[in-house]
Amino acid sequence: MEHSLSGILASYNGTQGELIPILQAVQAELGYLPEEAMHQVAQFCRVAESNVFGVASFYNQFRFSAPGRNQITVCRGTACHVQNAPAIVEELQRQLGIKEGETTPDMEYSLETVACIGCCALAPCLKVNEDVHGRLTPEKARKLFAASGTDKGGQDVQ
Ligand code: FES
Repeated sequence: MEHSLSGILASYNGTQGELIPILQAVQAELGYLPEEAMHQVAQFCRVAESNVFGVASFYNQFRFSAPGRNQITVCRGTACHVQNAPAIVEELQRQLGIKEGETTPDMEYSLETVACIGCCALAPCLKVNEDVHGRLTPEKARKLFAASGTDKGGQDVQ
C-alpha cells in the first residue's frame, strides 16, 4: 500500500483543497480508505486526521472497509422505500451478520445502499454486482444469499 500511496500523493501538492480528489484517487487504487492511508493523507495535506475522516464520512462515495468479492447494493430510493426496502436491508444485515457499509469476514459480500439504481418500476430492488433483482420481498432477498455458491447472476425482473 505504501508504494501505491506514494505514487498517488506524488501527483498532488498537499493542499487542503486537494483532500477530496486525493481520497478519491486512494479509493480508486485500493478499493477503500484504510486507516493508515487516511493518516498519511492527513500528514500530506497538513490537516488533522479527524478532519480527513470527517470529510470522508460526509460523502457516502467513500468506504472504510475492504470491498468483498460481491457488492450488494440495495436501493433506498422513494419508490423502493415505499415498497418495504428497509425490511430488505434489515433482513440482509441479519442474514450476513454485517451492517450497511461493511464486508462479511470471509470477504464474500459487501453491503451498501444507494438513492436509486435506476429500476424504479421493479421496486423494491437490489443489485449484486451489476445484476439487478427486482420486486423483492425480504424472503426473496434472503434466498439470493441462502448458500455459498448461490447463482448470483441473472436478471430477476419479472
Ligand atoms: S427508487 Fe429504487 S430503483 Fe429507483
